[in-house]
Amino acid sequence: MSMLISIKPEEYDFFVRINEEKDIVIARQMVKDIAKKLGFSLADITKISTVVSELARNIYRYVGEGFIYIRERKEGKDVYIELVAYDRGPGIEDIDLAITGGFTTTKGSLGLGLSGVRRLMDEFSIKSEVGKGTLVIVAKRRRSF
Ligand SMILES: Nc1ncnc2c1ncn2[C@@H]1O[C@H](COP(=O)(O)OP(=O)(O)OP(=O)(O)O)[C@@H](O)[C@H]1O
Ligand SMILES: [Mg+2]
Repeated sequence: MSMLISIKPEEYDFFVRINEEKDIVIARQMVKDIAKKLGFSLADITKISTVVSELARNIYRYVGEGFIYIRERKEGKDVYIELVAYDRGPGIEDIDLAITGGFTTTKGSLGLGLSGVRRLMDEFSIKSEVGKGTLVIVAKRRRSF
């Protein structure tokens, strides 16, 4: 059985192509600016930009090319920032293991990227298929303060 790993790019307001190390910094800065404009707290802006760094770094490391998509999502009076990391790389064999934390295929790394991403956001979903790619969708709700 083959599951479909895709999103509709036209539904997103911004995207960054990741294929050089400096793109990680660009993606981080872009999401920082957007979250700030949307009125997220400083603490949450830091969390959101950390998440983008981790997802972009995984794309850079394990795939070499992929995309970060960003959009604002409104649900009633709630505002969310939604981030997507999409690649057509080798995929993740054991997703549960990868998101539990402590598992890594990189020597010297802690394997805490994806578990951290899950912890820092309000919504987290991941789809991955070996040989096809990986899709991570996360979102954070704006707290009024
Ligand atoms: N986009 C991806 N494509 C293929 N494999 C991935 C991808 N993202 C993560 N992985 C796999 O999942 C494992 C866990 O990822 P995670 O980001 O949690 O930790 P890490 O990258 O190994 O270490 P850290 O992020 O702490 O430096 C990775 O070691 C890698 O094997
Ligand atoms: Mg990582």
